[in-house]
Amino acid sequence: MSEIIEQNKIPRRALYDGTTVPAVGMGTFGSDKYGPEQIAEAVYGGIRAGYRLIDCASVYMNEDRIGGALERVLQEGIVKREELFITSKVWNDMHGEGQVIASCEKSLKDLKLSYIDLYFVHWPFPNYHAPGCDGDSRNPDSRPFDLDEFMATWRQCEQLVDEGKVRYIGMSNMTIPKLEAVLPLCRIKPAALEMELHPGFQQPELFDYAKAHDILPVGYCPIGSPSRPERDRTAEDVADTQMPEIVEIAERHHVHPALICLKWAVQRGQVPIPFSVKEPQYISNLKCATEDPLTDEEMETIRLADKNCRLVKGQVFLWPGAKGWEDLWDVNGTITR
Ligand SMILES: NC(=O)c1ccc[n+]([C@@H]2O[C@H](COP(=O)([O-])OP(=O)(O)OC[C@H]3O[C@@H](n4cnc5c(N)ncnc54)[C@H](OP(=O)(O)O)[C@@H]3O)[C@@H](O)[C@H]2O)c1
Repeated sequence: MSEIIEQNKIPRRALYDGTTVPAVGMGTFGSDKYGPEQIAEAVYGGIRAGYRLIDCASVYMNEDRIGGALERVLQEGIVKREELFITSKVWNDMHGEGQVIASCEKSLKDLKLSYIDLYFVHWPFPNYHAPGCDGDSRNPDSRPFDLDEFMATWRQCEQLVDEGKVRYIGMSNMTIPKLEAVLPLCRIKPAALEMELHPGFQQPELFDYAKAHDILPVGYCPIGSPSRPERDRTAEDVADTQMPEIVEIAERHHVHPALICLKWAVQRGQVPIPFSVKEPQYISNLKCATEDPLTDEEMETIRLADKNCRLVKGQVFLWPGAKGWEDLWDVNGTITR
């Protein structure tokens, strides 16, 4: 029998209304490497082991299989629906009028759920690229962020809350300039911001901004996504699990460097959503949050080791005339158009 991690040992994080969610979730993007069946099996095993937060998205093209795993854990009485916290996301090609509602309904059907706990806008523009395309591919229809367009998408997310189809809504891959523009216009505020966060890319300004606005930071690629697709790799990328500070702390704690990345994330206050289909890995990814915390000095060592190295640059979403992937991230402090 595999190990089961007791729920009362897993730290929790509060949303703006006081509802709490687990401090670690499970990712479900197979990085073009792991298939839907494997991932669904990991979701089943993960929930049995103690995971309650599962990060899904329509573009991962596995929600129907994950739905089968969710049905199984519920039917077998491993968890009750209200104990789970399931997220999904609307993909960039479904931002138009009525399409967000339709996409959410498809995710609900695939996931075999009557409601989704947290529904994200995956990227803040309607720029589509075919799943699995290479890093040089561009779509001539891509365009920069547009406030009215984004708010029309968000209004549909708000409608989903009104209709009881989702409990909370969130944004992903945002920047401070974009948040400054959209937050005052939201009738229902985002409960969470999903963003890239790992020791080599800590985004301290965006992290602090989310906290200051009572928005929960959810950290993707928490281990530095060592299995990410080719299109998301460049020669300058830093491997978090090989950073000397992380390796040294891992040696001290007698664990894999991946677990130091996760302990750091949990103790800092974001919710990491590590991915793994390997049972020993996904169990240790959750368990590490329940034991042997990092010291204040170790936390400070990791804070100082930030490399500002973004891994998911998003260049396939660039529009004609854009200079480079930095344009997606408003690095000069204003929305780049
Ligand atoms: N909102 C967004 O735009 C966005 C973008 C990217 C990702 N995400 C979400 O974030 C999740 C996590 O990101 P990610 O999957 O890219 O990266 P990640 O969780 O940082 O890395 C996953 C990889 O790390 C390795 N790993 C996991 N646990 C390990 C352990 N205990 N020891 C050693 N190695 C371990 C595995 O490599 P092997 O395969 O070699 O075993 C696994 O494939 C995704 O699954 C997805 O749900 C969201």
